Amino acid sequence: MYRYILLMFCFSLVACGGSSGTSKSTSANSSAALASSQTFSSAATQLALVPLPAEVIEHNGVFDLGAEVVLSTDANAPTANQAVMRLLNSLGINSVNSAAAKIRLSLVNQADLGDEGYSLIIADDISIRAQTDAGLFYALQTLQQLLPVGRQASYKLPRVSITDVPQYAWRGSMVDVARHFFGIEYLKKHIERMAAFKLNKLHLHLSDDQGWRMEIKKYPKLTSVGGSTQAGGGPGGFYTQEELKDLVAYAANYNVEIIPELDMPGHVQAAIASYNELACDNVSNLDLYIGLNVGFSALCLTKPEVIYPFVQDVLTEVVNVFPSQYIHIGGDEIKHALYGEFIDKAGQIIKELNRTMVGWEEASAGKNLAPNTLLQLWNDDYDIKSATDRNIHLILSPCSYLYLDHGNVNGQPETYTWCRKQGVPLERVYSFNPQKYSLVTGIEAPVWSELVSSEAAMDNRMWPRLAAVAEIAWTNQSARNYQEFTQRMKSLKPYFDNAGIHYYIEPQLGW
Ligand code: ACM
Repeated sequence: MYRYILLMFCFSLVACGGSSGTSKSTSANSSAALASSQTFSSAATQLALVPLPAEVIEHNGVFDLGAEVVLSTDANAPTANQAVMRLLNSLGINSVNSAAAKIRLSLVNQADLGDEGYSLIIADDISIRAQTDAGLFYALQTLQQLLPVGRQASYKLPRVSITDVPQYAWRGSMVDVARHFFGIEYLKKHIERMAAFKLNKLHLHLSDDQGWRMEIKKYPKLTSVGGSTQAGGGPGGFYTQEELKDLVAYAANYNVEIIPELDMPGHVQAAIASYNELACDNVSNLDLYIGLNVGFSALCLTKPEVIYPFVQDVLTEVVNVFPSQYIHIGGDEIKHALYGEFIDKAGQIIKELNRTMVGWEEASAGKNLAPNTLLQLWNDDYDIKSATDRNIHLILSPCSYLYLDHGNVNGQPETYTWCRKQGVPLERVYSFNPQKYSLVTGIEAPVWSELVSSEAAMDNRMWPRLAAVAEIAWTNQSARNYQEFTQRMKSLKPYFDNAGIHYYIEPQLGW
């Protein structure tokens, strides 16, 4: 039966080569996890799902999905309902009441599925259950990976029961749109690609020395001046608040939340060039900046009467555009006696706006961090104990594993090497073990864009490595095995091609 299923799926995304075995189920949470297998012939491997689900049980036979289906949805799951309609439309399948095949999406009370888990059972019909809209949405992403890319007259699906829950609630991608500007349409494509791998946080680094990218109505020069260029001196660009609201709504349809970062009190040359009074009076460099250095600009921390009204005004407009609970204040790469005080004041402003602050690891210097503050760790061995001792939780972005601006391969042109000389190849990314840390809320992979000047280059830095990041964040550490991951990824090449992703052609995937 097992071989039969493999043969039936050779036309789909599934790898058909290699040996078959007798295993019929895979539990990512059990000691029989894939890590111990050398042939990787389990159901989960053969189904080529990324990220690897928690449990896959294969049944006999196949399920036929024709040109028509009876679709039953739940009105309280609008995101999943849109997603299932998008999926059916892309396959050319119509929803009618008289069809033989059924797809049922149900919201259920099943505590072990948590906020994002799901159960997907393909038997005599397709039954999808979750406690939340998000869980149903992720079941549909899994279903999509079980289907071939492109339309067919009919579709054969394996009969299978998948039960799946993520390890971490924050599964992020960070795009630096400040050093080089990337347009809204590109970000929308990126959101779709993220969602397909169950990534759920898009962190936008919206300001830095080389550019301020978010319209702030009270300070129009931030974008008319500060947004007018970028690293290397190109035309730059910025997003209007309407465009950002539209992007937020678009992302919500893919269960992706946008986390805005306005980096302060350092990394602010674009703001200073726009409003010179934000700098201390003895600062002579008030020009726009198109170079690659860091750590030279600062809001004048000894002019609280100037900078805090600015911070308050900017963050007030930020929260009016971005509904996310978390607002990222940056806080990296600046040393100043009043730095900790700045972090505390910014945290207080964010708290009064009923939001929660995220800061880079240095923000652990704040003495009065609200208990729900998140800190983003970026130097592998940064001593974050002063924060974790206060029970502050972390987002993990250790640069020697997850900075995707570093090379896919040692020596890749236009990539950084400052954190790791040999770059951070796919295997290195995948080898990151988040369990070395405690108080972990999530995993996030940044791409800093000083050296990334086109959409194709951004795609190349992100993919396929973001798929590894997605698996680190979603799948239990004990179930992960790099060789097995590459086998699943090999089969997903048609997805990457169909999505128009300019991925790095990773030799280890045989692409
Ligand atoms: C950082 O890489 N400066 C957060």
